[in-house]
Amino acid sequence: KITPVLMAGGSGTRLWPVSRKSFPKQFAPLIGDQTLFQASARRLAGPDFADPVVMTNADFRFIVAEQLDQVGIKPGAIVIEPSGRNTAPAILVAALMVAAKDPDGLLLVAPSDHVIPDDAAFARAVRQGVGPASEGRIVTFGITPDRPETGYGYLELGGQGDGPQPLTRFVEKPDAATAARMLSQGNFLWNAGIFLFQADAMIEAFRVHAPDYLSPVLAALDQARDDLGFLRLAKGPWDGLPDQSIDYAVMEKADNLTVVRFSERWSDLGGWDAVWREALLEAPSDTGVVTDRNSTAIDCHDVLLRSDSDDLQVVGIGLTDVMVVATADAVLVADKSRAQDVRHAVSALKARG
Ligand code: GDD
Ligand code: MG
Repeated sequence: KITPVLMAGGSGTRLWPVSRKSFPKQFAPLIGDQTLFQASARRLAGPDFADPVVMTNADFRFIVAEQLDQVGIKPGAIVIEPSGRNTAPAILVAALMVAAKDPDGLLLVAPSDHVIPDDAAFARAVRQGVGPASEGRIVTFGITPDRPETGYGYLELGGQGDGPQPLTRFVEKPDAATAARMLSQGNFLWNAGIFLFQADAMIEAFRVHAPDYLSPVLAALDQARDDLGFLRLAKGPWDGLPDQSIDYAVMEKADNLTVVRFSERWSDLGGWDAVWREALLEAPSDTGVVTDRNSTAIDCHDVLLRSDSDDLQVVGIGLTDVMVVATADAVLVADKSRAQDVRHAVSALKARG
């Protein structure tokens, strides 16, 4: 069985004000009734999978436990990282935990902030990756790009056809010119941020490409203690770790990557523009208007009006290219083109204290 590893430690500031420091986007019902975290956990449940390991931090541990319980999923472990050191050390912890029982055991690492509506197609893609992963390859999942996005990793294909194929190169978060060039070249896919591999293959990749992580992470796991059913890693060895994502620490350097194409809908809900795009795919509208039960648009074009508070009605009149997102205690009003700048709202509010 494959051990799913859910990464649920990020903070998602670009989805303020719905995403908050104490309650980030993956735990909010952004689209539909389930939260993104719950949808991710359910996607990785079923006969092919063991109970999931969730990598998170002390602030989110009870939200994780409660949200898994709500969808009837029993966690294999909920691991508390003493501080945010990005995805590299978290993934190494999960690999070491699985390797302790079975060095050849397979792990499927997945973010918890994605929308993948077709669970069956996703399961098929995972099954395609099992062969190469069982031979010691690190399997990535590739999405057909449709814009020169700079927030993603790019996978350069080594061959033709639809089956799994070796990767020539992994380029994490290119600058705008490089992204545009890779898009026009046509032999690049986006990295979905989902990885399938044997526990020992990942540990070996760290040994070769990011050896500094090994002994502190081993120590943090060795000295970990049970805390009300959560596994709390030891703070001393952990806090000195470099803060790096798996993409920079391992994927850009590894030479044993394989890519499986995933051709169905996939989205990283990185900002309100992405939430907006997904909502329009769910319920197409000629005017590009998206509203919810607490909002009304009159003579508007290309607007997103959303209120997560039943006590706050939002009405837009004669607006174009505007997004409004309201909660009980904050309202965001922004030009459509500025979705990525919403993180500045959070810094500005922090600076005001
Ligand atoms: N446990 C834990 N600890 N989880 C974390 C941490 C951490 O310190 N930091 C981030 N995460 C979680 C986030 O919550 C998210 O689910 C996932 O790890 C990925 O982190 P992001 O910060 O969202 O990464 P990204 O979107 O910039 O880039 C990654 O995903 C893209 C696709 O969505 C990369 O893998 C890119 O190459 C990829 O294209
Ligand atoms: Mg992301």
